[in-house]
Amino acid sequence: MLTQEQNELLTRVGPGTPMGETLRRYWIPALLDWELPAPDCAPLRLRLLGEDLVAFRDTSGRVGALDERCPHRLTSLWLGRNEENGLRCVYHGWKFDVTGQCVDQMNEPRPFAAKIRTTSYPVAEAGGVLWVYMGPPEKQPPPPDFAWTRVPEAHRVVTKVVEECNWLQALEGGIDTSHAPIMHRMLRPNASQPGIPVSDAFVQGSAPTLEVDVTDYGYRYFGARSLGSGEQYVRGYHFVMPWTQLRPAGRGVQNRTHGHHWTPIDDRRCLVWNWYYDDAVPLGKGEAGPEETGNVFGADVDVENGFRSVRNRSNNWMIDREAQRTETFTGIVGINTQDRAAQEMMGPIVDRTREHLGPADRAIIAARKLLEEAVRAVQDGGDPPGVAPTYYGLRAAETTLPPGADWRADLIPKMDPGA
Ligand code: FES
Ligand SMILES: [Fe+2]
Repeated sequence: MLTQEQNELLTRVGPGTPMGETLRRYWIPALLDWELPAPDCAPLRLRLLGEDLVAFRDTSGRVGALDERCPHRLTSLWLGRNEENGLRCVYHGWKFDVTGQCVDQMNEPRPFAAKIRTTSYPVAEAGGVLWVYMGPPEKQPPPPDFAWTRVPEAHRVVTKVVEECNWLQALEGGIDTSHAPIMHRMLRPNASQPGIPVSDAFVQGSAPTLEVDVTDYGYRYFGARSLGSGEQYVRGYHFVMPWTQLRPAGRGVQNRTHGHHWTPIDDRRCLVWNWYYDDAVPLGKGEAGPEETGNVFGADVDVENGFRSVRNRSNNWMIDREAQRTETFTGIVGINTQDRAAQEMMGPIVDRTREHLGPADRAIIAARKLLEEAVRAVQDGGDPPGVAPTYYGLRAAETTLPPGADWRADLIPKMDPGA
């Protein structure tokens, strides 16, 4: 449970808010690189942390993210002409380069372009994603470098989808391992909707015991379950501040890690980033391991409609009550869609003063604490965790071991080769 003040502190992300200022200290995954496919292609509108921006790729291939509003008389630069290394406003012809500098003013007999600079944020390209940094220039961290951004393009899949609730709800839902084999399970072998198989250790195991090890980037955490055979099934995850989770790809799947970023569009909407990669071999597109049978591969995403989900709140996620009786726990198609349904139904910003948490919520409690501490660190002039490159190379892992075996000794070297 949080106080109302804590809930406000953690969830509000606009300019000038404590959490907003903290989140602006990180690179934010914002666009898939193919959304700006070529020099001088059409600009894009995007909204990040409650700010409306326009992104464009200039003649030289550089990407800029500018305040959407033209600083002259505030029409949208999205209408603009992307030409000759700048975006030109169609209203009076002011033109801006990727740094936000005004370089031309067609309507002025004595131009004063050198004196005009609009808000502009740096953009980095990594892993087929365009990342935006919205914080103070002197605090800009090194470019994002996750294991998934390093592998060749054919080894990874990256998708995104809009979720209609506050980012922290989505993040908390994602790092919450206790719900997964409950909400996402199938009810019978070969059920007509995808989900976690009845026979899976995840479903067969007991309710999990959670352990959280706080680190300098966030924490690693474990969900340990006992199997009927007496063996222990342990899943090891990482939470990288402020919005990233690395998770094991699925039972028996080698070399693969799967994960998410949950990034705020504004206070009431967020983007769910899904990525999945194989260290060793290229992925077949559309190929899915046991846990990827949801819509990690983008099957439920309506790209033409602003990356909204086809199954969404307006159509009750197409819940099928008959399927809920016989096929899957929820009757909703798609693991990620099931997550979004539960999280969106909590309301745009859930009232955390009313909740009742238990030991199974330990990872959620730890994330809130770290986020609150990060806000205090930034307010005191320091750096939040997870901006230094200590998260590079992290992996998720899982193991099944005999009773009493030391699963930490088995998992930690696999999860953090530098530990
Ligand atoms: S409003 Fe953009 S140039 Fe006038
Ligand atoms: Fe889930």
